[in-house]
Amino acid sequence: MSDLTSLFNKALKVRKNAYAPYSQFHVGATVLSSNNNVYLGCNVENVSYPNGTCAETGAIAAMVAGGDVLIKDIVVVADSKLLIKPCGACLQRIFEFSNGNTKVHLADLGGIKKTYLISELLPLAFNEEELKK
Ligand code: THU
Repeated sequence: MSDLTSLFNKALKVRKNAYAPYSQFHVGATVLSSNNNVYLGCNVENVSYPNGTCAETGAIAAMVAGGDVLIKDIVVVADSKLLIKPCGACLQRIFEFSNGNTKVHLADLGGIKKTYLISELLPLAFNEEELKK
């Protein structure tokens, strides 16, 4: 099984744990870090809607807690006719832990359907340089 297929299968599995009673939209995400560790996340909603978190956010938090800070690949899976794409906030979160080779794989329940570099999805990311006066 290829690395990507295995990442997809893990994303599919963690998606089953998504807590999405309000949207009924279940999302799973898997991160493969530069140290070849795998981290999982699912969306976790809240009755106070803005407090909900995306699957990507969960996977990235797990990665940082695990001691890694560079995403090689991230797979996001949902049951969406139009392929799911990370929201703007999550693109910025992915960007924070990316380099020029970081890939974002978009999947439906059948597998990965599209792959982008983070720079293609967020070409004008807010970045450290802009903090300078
Ligand atoms: N969601 C994610 O987890 N990831 C995305 O990339 C887009 C949206 C979640 C947030 C919310 O729980 C539900 O999907 C509907 O927006």
